[in-house]
Amino acid sequence: MIFVTGGAGFIGSNFVLDWLAQADEPVLNFDKLTYAGNLNNLATLKQDVRHRFVRGDICDGEQVLALLLEHRPRAIVHFAAESHVDRSIHGPGEFINTNINGTFSLLEATRAYWSALPDSEKSAFRFLHVSTDEVYGTLGPDDAPFSETTAYAPNSPYSASKAASDHLVRSYHHTYGLPTLTTNCSNNYGPFHFPEKLIPLMIVNAQAGKPLPVYGDGQQVRDWLYVSDHCAAIRRVLEAGRVGEVYNVGGWNEMANLDVVHTLCDMLDRMRPKADGGSYRAQISYVKDRPGHDRRYAIDARKLESELGWKPAETFESGIAKTVQWYLDHPAWLADVQSGDYANWVASNYFNREGA
Ligand code: NAD
Ligand code: DAU
Repeated sequence: MIFVTGGAGFIGSNFVLDWLAQADEPVLNFDKLTYAGNLNNLATLKQDVRHRFVRGDICDGEQVLALLLEHRPRAIVHFAAESHVDRSIHGPGEFINTNINGTFSLLEATRAYWSALPDSEKSAFRFLHVSTDEVYGTLGPDDAPFSETTAYAPNSPYSASKAASDHLVRSYHHTYGLPTLTTNCSNNYGPFHFPEKLIPLMIVNAQAGKPLPVYGDGQQVRDWLYVSDHCAAIRRVLEAGRVGEVYNVGGWNEMANLDVVHTLCDMLDRMRPKADGGSYRAQISYVKDRPGHDRRYAIDARKLESELGWKPAETFESGIAKTVQWYLDHPAWLADVQSGDYANWVASNYFNREGA
């Protein structure tokens, strides 16, 4: 079986669903269920004995070690993290706690478990750390995309905390020989994406008749990858990645934020036309920029393609159409994630930001 941390979040839940759709190997899903964790994402697995959910915190090394000793996984896939850049600007503490201290506790528990395994299981074991392209910092318009050897230059508390966790993982391989793998991926989108992030936020606000808040001039560039392609890349790296290596994962799909928002508006104009016949583009509102906002990310994913044969299956056009359709088809999921503390977050992040 495999042990997944953060498997109730956006990418983690897509990964667990995809994993169990492809194979019968059971999953122990360990998640704290913060605001971003949602068991509704896994509702289709309710009766599935191959999926076991345990609520817990990766900072609790004793609980993690007890579970590892009880279930004896052959691999750990580590998604659990605080993941939203804007929240890291408002309150970095939880990012330091979960992303750095939590990864450290998880590594320590893993080391204790792994060290005591018989030799054959020890060499077959894998710790796969899921990380981000944001650790590499920001690119100018003509710079080459990030490769696995690009120097780290994280610019937000989020990316700095992920960079620290990457370094810890690297050190556990070099110092203790723990068989680690690290993936650094670009921006994901798709089903179950929490509507604090650009794409789901725009879909939700458009339908609610609210402003579509574009930070600064909207010309910041991101590389977008459909989430199931990221999941496939992780499965492939887990299966055949070289121990101790880093693999960049990306969609070869750079887009300026404003173009993404225009695409969403035009798609919604066709799929869910406004009653007054106008375009959702009229709701676009330029707001004050994110402090320290990285201008451009781009990923060179050639290593993953040449060594392991992975490339994205979806284009942006196909992936975004599926995504918009998914949100239109799941109003109950959306209503649920917008209850609770969501409104407070939106109010604090967008307060006093109008009129860029
Ligand atoms: P998310 O915020 O949607 O989900 C994070 C999950 O981790 C949630 O289920 C949450 O409950 C859980 N969690 C948080 N703190 C925990 C703790 N202390 N112990 C146990 N569980 C905890 O995040 P996501 O977008 O799914 O990202 C998953 C991973 O992928 C993160 O490590 C992130 O850095 C990385 N990543 C994300 C993207 C992206 O575009 N979203 C891109 C590249 C890499
Ligand atoms: O690059 C990978 C990273 O992508 C992951 O590591 C992060 O976990 C994930 O959240 C994402 O980070 P970003 O900051 O790029 O994603 P976000 O959706 O928050 O923002 C995407 C772009 O859109 C960014 O340039 C900021 C801009 N934006 C975002 C919001 C929420 C807006 O213009 N308006 C908004 O309201």
